[in-house]
Amino acid sequence: MSAKILYGKEFAARIKEEARREADEVKRGKGIAPGLAVIIVGSDPASEVYVRNKQKACDELALYSVKVELPEETSREELIAKIDELNDDEKVHGILVQLPLPRSLAKHEAEVLNRIRPEKDVDGFHPMNVGRLSIGERTLTPCTPTGVIRMLEMANIKIDGAHAVVIGRSNIVGKPMANLLLQKNATVTVCHSHTKNLKEITRTADIIVAAVGHPKFVTADMVKDGATVIDVGINRVMVGGERKLVGDVDFDGASEVAGAITPVPGGVGLLTIAMLMHNTVAAAKMQLGI
Ligand code: GUN
Repeated sequence: MSAKILYGKEFAARIKEEARREADEVKRGKGIAPGLAVIIVGSDPASEVYVRNKQKACDELALYSVKVELPEETSREELIAKIDELNDDEKVHGILVQLPLPRSLAKHEAEVLNRIRPEKDVDGFHPMNVGRLSIGERTLTPCTPTGVIRMLEMANIKIDGAHAVVIGRSNIVGKPMANLLLQKNATVTVCHSHTKNLKEITRTADIIVAAVGHPKFVTADMVKDGATVIDVGINRVMVGGERKLVGDVDFDGASEVAGAITPVPGGVGLLTIAMLMHNTVAAAKMQLGI
């Protein structure tokens, strides 16, 4: 069997189109463009690429956007002051602090993320939004896992009643992914580095979401015939002297067994930015009382 390949591009285009339509409604109704501020501290090359792509997406949808570039040696106080300024800026409806923070600020990550007003927290990382998601209230939810749910729905992959196995328990992907799947009535198992008999568990999954951060961690023998395999991994590896992006799934092997599978690159990564646009518009609508 050869899997149906779920390309992120077509799903991302649909999510962005919907966000554009809603942003245009906000502009017509209120005369205000939804606005996003992205803060990047230091010069991590991968983060710079992500931030550039976020700005490009804002331009594409004619959203207001602000990019705040702060030097590596920025203090905790300076970063907090910048967040406070953006919290009070009426043109800015969404605030995102690009992670990871430089080493000197990493220990303040929780405080930094908590400082963003929950209604402007387009990453869905604030404890208030994490809590709302976990009790099933409508709120801003993390972009990557929410994008995965939207893709599964658009691809008509049944979540209700499915056994979904999430590999990875990060705050950015694994935990919110598990909560979102649970909300859609999946039976959810969360696996991680201490899980025993991982293969036995994944082989019972109708949906596998791999968010481990290890290249080609999920192999064909871990996948049930016809299962859906979602690869959230982005690993930079050297292949024959060249830098290459590979996912957490051994795509060539797993696609022989799976019913549907996402590629890396070209899969889930594109959904993240599309969902960020969606969340920015949703945040603006909430703040403007629409
Ligand atoms: N770094 C990697 N993924 C993310 C994300 O979803 N949001 C933020 N703010 N930083 C990230």
